[in-house]
Amino acid sequence: MVTCSAPGKIYIFGEHAVVYGESAICCAVDLRTRVHAYTSESVVIESVLGKTVIDFDTHPYVSAVIERMREIIPIKGVNIKIDSDLPVGSGLGSSAAVTVATIQALNHLFGCKLALEDIANLGHEIERKVQGAASPTDTYVSTMGGVVMIPERRKLKLIECGIVIGDTRTFSSTRELVANVAKLRGSYPEIIVPLLSTIGKMSHIGEEMVNKKDYASIGNLMNVNHGLLDAAGVGSPELSLLVYAARLKGALGAKITGAGGGGCMVALTDVASNRDVADAIIEAGGDAIITKATEHGVTVESEI
Ligand code: PMV
Repeated sequence: MVTCSAPGKIYIFGEHAVVYGESAICCAVDLRTRVHAYTSESVVIESVLGKTVIDFDTHPYVSAVIERMREIIPIKGVNIKIDSDLPVGSGLGSSAAVTVATIQALNHLFGCKLALEDIANLGHEIERKVQGAASPTDTYVSTMGGVVMIPERRKLKLIECGIVIGDTRTFSSTRELVANVAKLRGSYPEIIVPLLSTIGKMSHIGEEMVNKKDYASIGNLMNVNHGLLDAAGVGSPELSLLVYAARLKGALGAKITGAGGGGCMVALTDVASNRDVADAIIEAGGDAIITKATEHGVTVESEI
């Protein structure tokens, strides 16, 4: 049996702007999806969603990975069990994490000799197949870990302050929100094009701050980034409640992470005030997750 895990991610800067070729800074976080796999006579996939055979309704990503890997190497049967720290569908990259961890588990189990770059590319291909469209960001960051400048794919220094994620528990559709921004950009190009390019500039200025470990300045810019995302129409009352609650309790900065409209926000904190910020998020009606950045991308945890 092999156990592989892969992390979720947050955006420090740059979601939505990255759709238009601007830069973003993403950070893998220590919330992982684990895939336990062993060879068997048939395919069985087990998670909190149920126990199935290949099933594109219940387990679309894992099913797509098995089918795609069968084009590389014969796989008669495999038993796959998934458990995850990541809330599903809230912009933290849960689908990328399960996809990448499953690819690596099958890679090891069946000796496919895929390198990390291959896993990231295959992961992106699977996400595109299942979702219709997907940016390569989530699968790349989940595979490589660490703090990554996108689209340059440049590794930055690890972020060493506290990270608190607030989940509004409201659903948001990335596809819909990306379409809304496109519409606004089409209606007011003189306003929205520079707005998105300003967000891109934040990533470039932020790169040096990350490498200098200047978390107070990163926090300030994250607050500005939140305001611009709100201006681009991807905010929500719930997200802003959690963002302001975190800032009032001393977060260095707080903003939407991911597509917005619902889903999650993220706050950077001094590690000592993590608990206070998390409590403030809970009091404001959200779920709070205290985490940290991680250098560990997809990892083989054990092989027996
Ligand atoms: O909410 P998520 O993790 O799917 O992030 C979406 C990020 C966008 O920039 C809005 C879209 C994209 O594909 O980059």
